Amino acid sequence: MIKIDTRYLEKFVSTQEINEIAPEIAKAQKVLNTATGRGNDFLGWVNLPTEIDDELINKIQQDADAIAAKAQIYVVIGIGGSYLGARAVIESLQNELAVLDPNRKRPYIVYAGHTLSEDYYSQLLSILDKFDYAMTVISKSGTTTEPAVAFRILKSHIEKKYGKEEARSRIIAITDGSKGALHNIAKQEGYTTYVIPDNVGGRYSVFTPVGLLPIAVSGGDIAKLIQGARDMQSIVTQEISITDNPAALYTAIRNILYRKGKKIEMMVTYIPAMRYISEWWKQLFGESEGKEHKGILPHSVTYTTDLHSMGQYVQDGERIMFETVLSVNNSATNVNIPFDEANLDGLNYLQQKTLTTINHCAEEGTACAHVDGGVPVIRLEMNCINEETIGELLYMMEYSCGISGYVLDVNPFDQPGVEAYKTNMFKLLGKF
Ligand code: PA5
Repeated sequence: MIKIDTRYLEKFVSTQEINEIAPEIAKAQKVLNTATGRGNDFLGWVNLPTEIDDELINKIQQDADAIAAKAQIYVVIGIGGSYLGARAVIESLQNELAVLDPNRKRPYIVYAGHTLSEDYYSQLLSILDKFDYAMTVISKSGTTTEPAVAFRILKSHIEKKYGKEEARSRIIAITDGSKGALHNIAKQEGYTTYVIPDNVGGRYSVFTPVGLLPIAVSGGDIAKLIQGARDMQSIVTQEISITDNPAALYTAIRNILYRKGKKIEMMVTYIPAMRYISEWWKQLFGESEGKEHKGILPHSVTYTTDLHSMGQYVQDGERIMFETVLSVNNSATNVNIPFDEANLDGLNYLQQKTLTTINHCAEEGTACAHVDGGVPVIRLEMNCINEETIGELLYMMEYSCGISGYVLDVNPFDQPGVEAYKTNMFKLLGKF
């Protein structure tokens, strides 16, 4: 089970401060558990892991296997909460090099609807000309411009490539159960459709078909993912001592630091495949907390890569941030450093060590240096990366985000600020 390790916090957060904020966290937790806070009509995500039934999981798995049997590429069309959860899980289980694996058994997942870049679509279409593909279009509202535009382009392409009838069998829509343009198109065209529950907002939807279908198409074990989330749900939703509840403890520490002027939280991973976990987390916390001129700014880095770009600032720049390190104990595989007789590069001292050991030394050395430089470090320890641990992590973060929003006294389940750019864009585009 994921643990919050406070070893690097001694200089910054005292036990007394944690004890002092504990009643506030407990109160926020009660408000969430009893659905008495702001945005309480969007709490469907809290019980999703325990409420999802085997029938739905099996249906998703069957659809995913049918797609995998006929597609080399699977296009996931969606933006924000309608694609980041799936991408976070898919990329952490199989990194970006998977595209080059000649023995890959499942479709390679590509994304659309998350950008308006013309060159991106032109390149995507020319790739899709050459491979068999299928797609899912995901939009809760069914009216978001970016995925709607992408779907119009790709629907036309897939119908030309396969004919309308076959194209229909290669498209799955995931949207609202009764309204929205996508709902109407899906109904008219007769697409296989999954419903996003009314009471689950986009960024909390990874354990619905929004996340589960693309993950299953990619070969991820969705039953295990749900099991991980369920295990975490059974712990963090309990109103137990703060030190026994990782979501409550994480919430407490980040809010104590925020009140001390640490306004930026940098999610740190040492594993590039986990980059999209950080992206998902940034949306979750940024969109949930950043309102009413309040909220920690979520930022992310991948070390050691970014130690050679951002490292200088973190060590020596403005003292406005803290780090949350996703520390993974074990890799799935080992690569040893070979012995070299000549030792011209002077690396024989590493010869008995695995890259994971070296990466862990980099992590520990960096955390100590940053602590010395005045940057608090929360260490979040995971045993390994697999569906269960990722399920635990995502659920823990969702729950923490819910209570953290209440501690901050904002509605963690709306996103009114996202509308401003749309209004301007529509005006510029001449939409009536
Ligand atoms: O978390 C959210 O609600 C948003 O990020 C949405 O997921 C995003 O804007 C996409 O919305 P929709 O699924 O309605 O297309």
